[in-house]
Amino acid sequence: MPAPNPPPHAVEGKNERSANSSIVLDDENATLALATRLAAQIKPGMVIYLHGDLGAGKTCLVRGVLNALGFKGRVKSPTYTLLEPYHAAGLDLRHFDLYRLQDENEWEFAGFRDEFDGKSIFFIEWPDKASSFIPPADLEISLDILPQGRLADIKGNTSIGLACLKQL
Ligand SMILES: Nc1ncnc2c1ncn2[C@@H]1O[C@H](COP(=O)(O)OP(=O)(O)O)[C@@H](O)[C@H]1O
Ligand SMILES: [Mg+2]
Repeated sequence: MPAPNPPPHAVEGKNERSANSSIVLDDENATLALATRLAAQIKPGMVIYLHGDLGAGKTCLVRGVLNALGFKGRVKSPTYTLLEPYHAAGLDLRHFDLYRLQDENEWEFAGFRDEFDGKSIFFIEWPDKASSFIPPADLEISLDILPQGRLADIKGNTSIGLACLKQL
């Protein structure tokens, strides 16, 4: 018997199926609500790419995830430090913003390669700046600025990412 057709939004990836879904986020509270749902689904070792222009809400989303996990400190944008590490709800999290990353030498010099131990959870803003030396994403979240609000396109690339996407 032939395999059933995949749903229209599902596409065949190279090795694994990938799927995506879009959500309109009317205001910042909607972004934070998505962050709360995401916080309930993330698993150690997960790599999440965050795409979108400056001001699209990438850092806002990470702040929402950390707050939902009970992190009480300040969540600042790693614009200059490139990396901010966190520990919350028994999880190690790493928030990268690679907008200002110069080249692979800077990456190696900062020791960022050693961060990818498969145990922490990674949120990476501007992943295209380091695409050849960061691990592939389980989940990719693209935020587009609308006249009012944001459009989030969320794509699962791996079984762990797809499982997460299903619950969002
Ligand atoms: N769904 C939304 N609609 C409108 N504004 C939003 C929404 N989500 C977040 N914002 C606002 O957009 C800005 C996003 O800033 P930031 O998270 O620093 O962006 P990025 O990290 O993508 O450069 C914040 O001022 C935040 O209040
Ligand atoms: Mg940011």
